[in-house]
Amino acid sequence: MTSNAANTQSLLPVRIAGTGSYVPKKILTNHDLEKMVETSDDWITSRTGIKERHIAAKDEFTSHMATHAANRALEQAGLQGEDLDLIIVATITPDTLTPATACYVQQSLGANRAIAFDISAACSGFLYALEFARVAIAAGSVKTALIIGAEKLSAFVNWTDRDTCVLFGDGAGAAVLSAQKNDSDTGKILSSHLGTDGKQTAILNIPGGGSACPITLQNAEQHLAALSMQGREVFKCAVNAMRQASEIAIEKAGLTSEDIDLVIPHQANLRIIDAITDRLKISKDRVFINLDKYGNTSAAAVAIALDEATRSDAVKPGDRILLVAFGAGLTWASAVIEW
Ligand code: COA
Repeated sequence: MTSNAANTQSLLPVRIAGTGSYVPKKILTNHDLEKMVETSDDWITSRTGIKERHIAAKDEFTSHMATHAANRALEQAGLQGEDLDLIIVATITPDTLTPATACYVQQSLGANRAIAFDISAACSGFLYALEFARVAIAAGSVKTALIIGAEKLSAFVNWTDRDTCVLFGDGAGAAVLSAQKNDSDTGKILSSHLGTDGKQTAILNIPGGGSACPITLQNAEQHLAALSMQGREVFKCAVNAMRQASEIAIEKAGLTSEDIDLVIPHQANLRIIDAITDRLKISKDRVFINLDKYGNTSAAAVAIALDEATRSDAVKPGDRILLVAFGAGLTWASAVIEW
């Protein structure tokens, strides 16, 4: 099922007024993983492009990383927590099942006026949050929104399973959204597109820890609260869904792939990214990659990459950026932004 809700033409234009990101200090390299499971730097690099990932400390939670990223986004936007009307945290690794991680973030930012809740759309979550915050601002129900993609995946990985443990990392990225007031305002959201396919829940999930399979003394050693994935199936679905989502967002923006200056894709696997951009006929120098440093940080991945790209010389004023993601659900999402 896909959404046509993102017809930006009929509503107020919305922009990204600031971005921020944060990754924890500790780095776990492929060579470190060689000592933990039967794998090699060569296998991980050639199959995924990942060289290292950041791992949060025991007492560093998803909400802490989200708050660091949010503070940087607020600073760039010239705003404070009390200016926010809405906070959405996209995460599959919340601090607690309830309350939402967004509530902890609201408290730590002193964003007392903001309503706050989480979105669970896996790796597409940040772009789902972008679309729902955009619509809320465009419709006039809120003025200023903070969206965050934040994950502590290291707490939900089976560190004895080489099929999955080499792929993931921790981190957070954030963006502040507000209505576009002047033509010269940067970060205008030109289009977006969301999609879901609930028939494919089995190929990528965390089977335990929810009401369907609570963790008990009897099953505690089966790693049920860890990510489980059929890698090859996910790979194929990711390529198809992200290519289609990209084409739809580009078309909705009234553009062609030649007009896209930079693609910021979900950072799961370099081979997936190459397959999509080859099909879109977008050259490699127009694709932003940071998965070598961070691995797959799920909902945080596009958000961290957007912050790094727009703070670097990879993006110039007026550039058109395609954001595209794919994740468990299955879910997929895309957006085109004019910087
Ligand atoms: N180190 C060494 N060997 C490994 C390994 C590791 N970390 N993980 C798996 N292997 C082995 C497998 O056991 C298999 O061995 P076999 O041929 O003897 O059975 C072999 O490598 C090939 O496995 P395969 O699953 O076919 O590899 P692949 O080329 O499909 O790459 C993934 C595996 C997971 C990297 C790839 O499928 C992928 O990236 N999938 C999508 C992941 C993703 O994007 N997930 C998140 C979506 S948001």
